[in-house]
This record gives sequence, structure tokens and C-alpha cells, in this order.
Amino acid sequence: MLYKMTGGRPLSGDVYISGAKNAALGIMPAAIMASEPVTIENLPDVRDIRVLLDAMVEIGVTVERADAHTVKIDGSTVNKVRVDNEHIRRIRAGYYLLGALLGKYHHAEVALPGGCNIGARPIDQHLKGFRALGAKAEVENGIVIVDAENLHGGHIYLDVVSVGATINVMLAAVLAPGNTIIENAAKEPHVVDIANMLNKMGAAIRGAGTDVIKIRGVERLKGTQYPVIPDQIEAGTFMFAAAITQGKITVHNIIPQHMDAISSKLIEMGCEITEYDEDITVTGKSHLRPCNVKTLPYPGFPTDMQPQICVALSKARGRGIVTESIFENRFRYVDELLKMGAHIKIEGNKATVDGVERIKGADLIAPDLRAGAALVLAGLGAEGTTTVDNIEYIMRGYESFDEKLRRIGADIEIVPGASDSTESEIG
Ligand code: UD1
Repeated sequence: MLYKMTGGRPLSGDVYISGAKNAALGIMPAAIMASEPVTIENLPDVRDIRVLLDAMVEIGVTVERADAHTVKIDGSTVNKVRVDNEHIRRIRAGYYLLGALLGKYHHAEVALPGGCNIGARPIDQHLKGFRALGAKAEVENGIVIVDAENLHGGHIYLDVVSVGATINVMLAAVLAPGNTIIENAAKEPHVVDIANMLNKMGAAIRGAGTDVIKIRGVERLKGTQYPVIPDQIEAGTFMFAAAITQGKITVHNIIPQHMDAISSKLIEMGCEITEYDEDITVTGKSHLRPCNVKTLPYPGFPTDMQPQICVALSKARGRGIVTESIFENRFRYVDELLKMGAHIKIEGNKATVDGVERIKGADLIAPDLRAGAALVLAGLGAEGTTTVDNIEYIMRGYESFDEKLRRIGADIEIVPGASDSTESEIG
């Protein structure tokens, strides 16, 4: 399937932000660790979430969908600790089932993510963490096998700040007797959200949101009802849509503090930002100013917003430099922007972007989730007609993307396309 759009209209109006995909992907496995049912609210209705729910059903979890955004999960019916279906290999976050099942059942086998195209994405830090908790952790024929006769608290220093490893070790540690300390932990909002949810279930986690997370193992986790935080990256994508199309967009149901790094860059580029308690209005100006940006772990500028800012810079007046410091190979979409007349040069992990007066519509292919969304923004800010193919990627993480864009004035529709690729794994 592809999106077909005609650019050039300023996008204006209100966008209601969905729950955070990356938080939900950790919260669902956390839920199966409880001895009682857990209700998760504000779940985004996106493909990655559906895949994980299906994988959970396959191992015996009882999943009841109250509506598109609310699900009741009962992990007490789990009858298998091996997760290996064709779909789970397509979502990287399936590995959170490792931490959750290891923590609860002391054994787990989960298929590794398949095709992955933002460079090497190892899981050595996850395995190092599990081993510090007394587990054996091996990879055999693409399946990660973790086993612990005697799971216990441990002291882990993460060699790289990893969101995935922080969450996975936290999941494995909450039921492990004794104390666990995770140093150099990731501080992303979704790490905090998963910790908050686990604490509501009776876990004893302190320090989530700082470099050091301390966990005292508890005997059991109880049921709860928990709403997922709003999606920082979805909100950031729509904020950049205002900048790129010179429109005026209010993103609703967000946590403005999570948006600070993104708001600062938009201000630097000349946009006007008005913050309310749970909403932000971005007013784009006729000429964007260039800026330099480096992706960093939270609270820095998120790597998942790197393609979106690159699109904005391609329309700015002057030169901006984008440095990608989290993932290798995350500039694959730049070839697509060149087709639109953008001036971008890549050297290693740096993109030098010389803004041009206008970019023109072209036929594009989304290489992954976030870059796909950024190419749509480019199409909406370009002259003429653009198509973006491989939109299955975008559907992995953006709920009703085209519909939300149409509501703010975009001329965009879904049309049948040649390809249906779901091999990429990013974001
Ligand atoms: C998560 C997000 C993704 C986001 C990324 C960085 C989910 C489902 N995905 O991915 O959208 O782009 O955080 O904010 O939440 N690393 C290692 N060894 C490990 C683990 C990671 O070397 O064991 C490296 C990675 O290669 C990368 C860096 O650490 O260079 C950060 O990766 P990490 O934070 O783990 O990203 P993910 O959790 O995969």
C-alpha cells in the first residue's frame, strides 16, 4: 500500500495523540507477570501492539479487548514460555517477553528480531543484565534462551545507555529476591512509565528516570488498571508537520515536559511554541532557520525524530548539520529526499543539509517506521504529488496517520501499491 498526497497546504488544527507504542510494548509483558488480571488503557491501535498481543495469546495469556484502546490481560493462564512465531521476529520489542517470563517463570525462549536495518542492534547488554541476576543466557539458532534456577538481585552497569536493556532487566528483577541496581540506566519517559506501572502492581522500583534504578524484589505482583503515557514521537512528528507545512497545529493529550528537546529545536528554527498543561501549539513560520542537532538518549533529542528534523532542515534557509549518535545506518531515507530536490550530504554519522527554496513531489519508498513518517511530512511540504510506498512500516507505529493528517487539512489517501514489505525493524 502507499500514501498518495498533494503537498503545499499548511496543516492546521487539532491532533489527539495516542498512547506511546514503545511504552505499551513493555507494559504488556509487564502485565503478564501479575498473578491477577491487569487492564491497560490508552493502548495505541497499531500493528506492533497487535503482533505482540497475538504472540502473548499463543503462549496462553488471556487477552480481552474491551475496545480498540483498552485491553485486559491475564497472565495466570500462561502455558508456554517459548515464543517463536513468524510475527514476533518482526518486532524487536518481543524481547521484553524474555525479561517478563524469566522474572516470573525463571525460563524463557524468544525468537530474535529478524531483518533490521538501522545498523547492528545487539542485545549483549540485555544478556549481561540477565546473567547478573543469576540466569544463563544464550542465543541458539536465532532463539534467545534464558534460564535461572536461582534468580536473585544483582548489580549491573550498562556499558551503553540502552532503553531495551534497562526495561528488560527491570522486568526480570522485580520478582527476583534481593536488591538489584541498574547503573547507567536509560531515562526515557517509557522506562519511567513501565516502572510506574510495575510499582502500581506492587513492585519496589526507585530511581526510574535517573541514571540509577534500584529494585527490591517482591514476592508477587497484583492486578491493576493503568493508562499508557502519550507518544512523545507521534506528538513530535505532528509538531514538525506544522513547521514543515507552515501551519498551526495543536497536539493534545501530551506531557509537554517530554517534548522539551523537540520544542527547543522548533523554537531555534523560528517556530512559535505555546505550552499548556497537556497540549502544545506549534505555529510554523514562512521561513525556517537552520540549526545543528545531535541525537542523544533522553533528555536529548530523540533518534526517532532525526528524519523529521532532517526534512524540516531541507526547507530551511541555510546549512544545518544532523549528527546521529545512537544508531548506525539511520540515513537511508536521505536518498528519497534527494529525489525531491533536497541538498543533503552524508558523511559517516553526519548529514549536512543545505536548505532549498522548495522541494518537489516524487515517488518515494519508506525504508522504516520513523523515516516513513518523515517522508510523508516531506510530501505534504512539497510542491505537487508525492507517493510513499511501504506504508506498512508507518502503520507499525502511527495510529490512523492519514486520518489524523486529513483532519488538519492534508490531501492524503491510501492507494494499493506493489510492495508489502514488513522486514524492517526500527523505532
Ligand atoms: C528503543 C526504541 C527505539 C529508539 C531507541 C533509542 C523501543 C521498542 N524502541 O530501541 O524506537 O530508537 O530505543 O531511543 O522502545 N545497544 C547495545 N547493546 C544492547 C542494546 C543496545 O550495544 O544490548 C546499543 C544499540 O545498538 C544502540 C544503543 O545501544 O546503539 C541504544 O539502543 P537501545 O536504547 O537499546 O534501543 P532499543 O531499545 O532497541
